[in-house]
Amino acid sequence: MIPHYHVNANEVQLFLLAYEQRLPVMLTGPTGCGKTRFIEYMGAKLQRPVLTISCHDDLTSADLVGRFMVSSGDVIWNDGPLTRAVKQGAICYLDEVVEARHDSLAVLHSLTDHRRTLYLDRSGEVLHAPASFMLVCSYNPAYRSSIKELKPSFRQRFVTLAMSYLPADREAQVLVQESGVALPVAQRLVALATSIRNTDAAFHFEPPSTRVLVTAASLIAAGATEMEAAETCILAPLSNDGITSDGLRELAAASLEMPN
Ligand SMILES: Nc1ncnc2c1ncn2[C@@H]1O[C@H](COP(=O)(O)OP(=O)(O)O)[C@@H](O)[C@H]1O
Ligand SMILES: [Mg+2]
Repeated sequence: MIPHYHVNANEVQLFLLAYEQRLPVMLTGPTGCGKTRFIEYMGAKLQRPVLTISCHDDLTSADLVGRFMVSSGDVIWNDGPLTRAVKQGAICYLDEVVEARHDSLAVLHSLTDHRRTLYLDRSGEVLHAPASFMLVCSYNPAYRSSIKELKPSFRQRFVTLAMSYLPADREAQVLVQESGVALPVAQRLVALATSIRNTDAAFHFEPPSTRVLVTAASLIAAGATEMEAAETCILAPLSNDGITSDGLRELAAASLEMPN
């Protein structure tokens, strides 16, 4: 089954062209804007499995390519997820690649240029990626509290597709589709998110994503009031302490339907 994905612009065509040309792709965009859903959709469309690796500080190149392990007295090689993806000709998706250390990512270099080769130093194997193998990375460039950055030389290895939230009317359709709420409810949630996103520069926080709107819509579909859902899913997560300021609550009251 192909997951539901609302197309934003020309990202599907460009992704298909990159796949045909065997080029790696970098998805950038705020958290919860649809990057993971897009990859699941493209994988299904191309009939390729998607292997996702969530990147973090402790990720080593051995976590990517594999390692020797002792199993009942024998030392055997265990493929890591990157190696498995190359062997299967799958789409390998490195989520939040900016979280990984630069030295762990060095193993990707030979895969992201014309060589399309993975060198397994420890086992001595050299793997040539089949045509159907694709490397896709994602990161959120607006995540301002992150001191980490990708090296420009690394970024330049990829075709970069900059993703963002859908236009309001289509974002509301996503909410309807994902949660089953009525369209006017979805439109009010999107209106609230839009007003917060527009004040983002003043507040310095990560604005509410499509993901939190879907979560809020699901709570409403299950019986919560619009204000309850907005407060718990959209407003509270904006602050560290989870306490919603009066200003934000007023902003919400202006967009949402209030119970009598
Ligand atoms: N374009 C879209 N089409 C369909 N659903 C979307 C879209 N964008 C976001 N969503 C919804 O928002 C949720 C979060 O999106 P996700 O792909 O996980 O975001 P990201 O990977 O960018 O953090 C999805 O599970 C889906 O319900
Ligand atoms: Mg994601």
